[in-house]
Amino acid sequence: MNKIRAIDKKKTTKVLVIDDEAYIRESIKGFLEDYSYDVIEAENGIKGLELFDFELPNIVLCDLRMPEIDGLEVLSKIVKKSPDIPIIIVSGVGNISDTVQALRIGAWDYIIKPVQDMTVLLHSIEKSLERASLIREKELYRKDLEEVNSRLKNSLNTLEKTKDKLVRSEKMAALGGLVAGVAHEINNPVGIAITAASFLKDKTSYIKEIYESGSLKKSDLESYLQNMDEVSQSIIINMDRAATLIKSFKQVAVDQTVEERRKFNLKQYFQDILLSLKPTYLNKGCVITLECADNIETFSYPGAYSQIISNLVMNSIIHGFKEKIDGQITINISLLDVDKVNQELIIHYSDNGSGMTQEQANKVFDPFFTTMRGQGGTGLGMSIVFNLVTQTLGGTIECKSVPNTKTEFIIKIPKSSLFD
Ligand SMILES: Nc1ncnc2c1ncn2[C@@H]1O[C@H](COP(=O)(O)OP(=O)(O)OP(=O)(O)O)[C@@H](O)[C@H]1O
Ligand SMILES: [Mg+2]
Repeated sequence: MNKIRAIDKKKTTKVLVIDDEAYIRESIKGFLEDYSYDVIEAENGIKGLELFDFELPNIVLCDLRMPEIDGLEVLSKIVKKSPDIPIIIVSGVGNISDTVQALRIGAWDYIIKPVQDMTVLLHSIEKSLERASLIREKELYRKDLEEVNSRLKNSLNTLEKTKDKLVRSEKMAALGGLVAGVAHEINNPVGIAITAASFLKDKTSYIKEIYESGSLKKSDLESYLQNMDEVSQSIIINMDRAATLIKSFKQVAVDQTVEERRKFNLKQYFQDILLSLKPTYLNKGCVITLECADNIETFSYPGAYSQIISNLVMNSIIHGFKEKIDGQITINISLLDVDKVNQELIIHYSDNGSGMTQEQANKVFDPFFTTMRGQGGTGLGMSIVFNLVTQTLGGTIECKSVPNTKTEFIIKIPKSSLFD
């Protein structure tokens, strides 16, 4: 019963026996066929190599001393071709040093000839086949792993690219917001100036008319001059305002795309940024208070500040004030002495919005964390802020939030990235 099972298992196993002594081949063949091995015989090395290529055996038994080419040569050729096919050396006692050499070249085992106990040979064959199958499995497993690894690498690459794209589109969205801001803010002064100019035109036509008809009175001229003075003044003020707005918008826009250090006044710059964001928060009835000394001149990356503040404000509006109409944001900026030589810039940002749970606050800087997935949120805003604060400005950022009450961000920037 046991024997039948063993036979079935080995049905397709091919053994190539290479030996110049026919009776050895015959006795091995006879024995192994009882165990249902399929035995192929070769009487010399050349024939052995030919059959190896043609029959694709699962295991090879090879003598060492043979005419034409000897066992060692056969062995090294097979090892080179198919290192995963077991070869067992079957050789006489006199060939011990050759046997050692054979093991070095890559033989899996050796049996001393004449084979006294055929079960020893059987055992060696079974062990070698088992080892070969384990090695094959390991190799398959390794290949599988390699494939999974390379697929993972590809996914990671795609993810990195998608992230870059998202970061870029985030920047473009910020710029888009800025353009809307420009249009909105500049509309007012330009509108006033146009009304004033057409008022002047009408008044001038009227004066011209009464002058030409000879009915111009002194009081008419005086009233005209008075109007002229006030209205032209208003035109100058409004055009001036438009010019200032354009200048600051231009600067904020350039800073958002160009990552360069330059000198700027912190309060002035924050005011410019908030101005550019005005259309997004004004119609929500939101008020932003900026507390900052007038005289902090820094040499830093304005684009980083503009992106940081834009993201924080947009988040307060979109998330914090989702269900609130008169939200308040306070931005307090101060320069603190850390010790006798070092100073630190502290930006304390707070809103009185919906806040976050502790779990959300812990994840707020994680890339792709968003509670607005599918509603326009990519979850990249705060991770960009985190990178800008820690990488570009060399500082730290911390989030404190109380649900239904407030959200605070405390940003600390070291002196080294503030001044020359
Ligand atoms: N001021 C805030 N008040 C309440 N929740 C906030 C506030 N700021 C951030 N969050 C929470 O943190 C999450 C992550 O913010 P983040 O800016 O990274 O992504 P997002 O605003 O959802 O998407 P994106 O900014 O990429 O468009 C938000 O989805 C929101 O849940
Ligand atoms: Mg955001």
